Amino acid sequence: QTQIYGAGLSGIVPTLPVDFATLEKRAQAALPSHVLTYVQGGCGDEFTQDENARAFRHWGMVPRMMVDATHRDLTTDLFGLRLPSPVFMAPIGVTGMMSQDQHGDIAAAQASAATGVPLTASTLSNDPLEDVQAACGDTPAFFQLYTPRDRELAESLVSRAEAAGYKAIIVTLDTWVTGWRPRDLNPSNFPQLRGHVLQNYFTDPRFRAMLGGKSPEDDLRTAIGTWGATFGKVLTWEDMSWLKSITKLPIVLKGICHPDDARRAIDGGADGIYVSNHGGRQANGGIAAIDMLPAVAEAVNGRVPVLFDSGIRSGTDVVKAIALGADAVGIGRPYAYGLALGGAEGCAHVLKCILAEADLLMAVNGWPTLAEVRAAGAIRTDR
Ligand code: FNR
Repeated sequence: QTQIYGAGLSGIVPTLPVDFATLEKRAQAALPSHVLTYVQGGCGDEFTQDENARAFRHWGMVPRMMVDATHRDLTTDLFGLRLPSPVFMAPIGVTGMMSQDQHGDIAAAQASAATGVPLTASTLSNDPLEDVQAACGDTPAFFQLYTPRDRELAESLVSRAEAAGYKAIIVTLDTWVTGWRPRDLNPSNFPQLRGHVLQNYFTDPRFRAMLGGKSPEDDLRTAIGTWGATFGKVLTWEDMSWLKSITKLPIVLKGICHPDDARRAIDGGADGIYVSNHGGRQANGGIAAIDMLPAVAEAVNGRVPVLFDSGIRSGTDVVKAIALGADAVGIGRPYAYGLALGGAEGCAHVLKCILAEADLLMAVNGWPTLAEVRAAGAIRTDR
């Protein structure tokens, strides 16, 4: 807060905006169309995506006075880790598209190292997961798994993530097929998939064995074809015991929106529930993710941590999500814009603005701890 807002008041205005609307406008003006459409686009007519952010406006919080909130404690315990705040970076694939040198994943990892905000490294990264983890420095990181159809390949990716030092496996459930995203029908997107986004596959021993001795570099067409043929396994509840058996790391299920699914996941051994509708990029016609959070949190009832993303645009949104039952809150598109506009520093700037706003809101609302935010809750207003 002192770094950004305080400095701004004394005339040192940050190079990137401190609010999402201006950040997105800047991105609209500055980014090549294929990068903008990839980050900004969603499924169908983007109703769910818009609702995700809009719905936050229907939740309000009531401040409390005569409380000493001079010192705020945002520290969060998650999977045995002590984190400086409840904020983490949601997985974003093809991040190389967002940086000139194609190393967007490394830039995001550097922002993580600089801010202490954990990164969730996507399966679809432009840099091998080992390099991304190393660039996170002392900040813990999570690995997001798009489960390949070939179990051995899935097991190989997970054991590499465990060996590299990731602290949790976040299994994305809602993307075994890609949603109907009209804006992605953009020819200039395709070069991005020609090879470098698949580094986790191309560096994988099991995947290389599937290529029958050829290297991806020698025969890119076959390598991409093999990836396409193995991408996207439909997971069912029967797969839970297999998922649990392949790693000692906590297994978090991303994309849970229904309270019954949350209960079933915990019965099956899930170590975390991640409420998300993929930012409205997968299924359209749904309910805003934040509106589904309270029922899922109630069903979970503190048994495992509840992670949340979809529609977080500010520190205020982070605090609302905590008030509505989240233990940890994922930032998506805002950090992608930060990366695309300003690399590692731009990404760190966006994260710092969100953290500073959350901290300041807790101060003015008289909530020195996250426990007090949870106890205060949020009120649904129908306007
Ligand atoms: C995503 N998301 C995503 N999720 C995932 O599990 N693996 C992935 O590789 C990606 N890739 C990805 C790319 C881009 C450009 C976006 C915007 C999103 C979904 C992401 O983790 C998160 O659920 C959403 O970003 C949340 O929505 P908002 O808050 O960004 O609108």
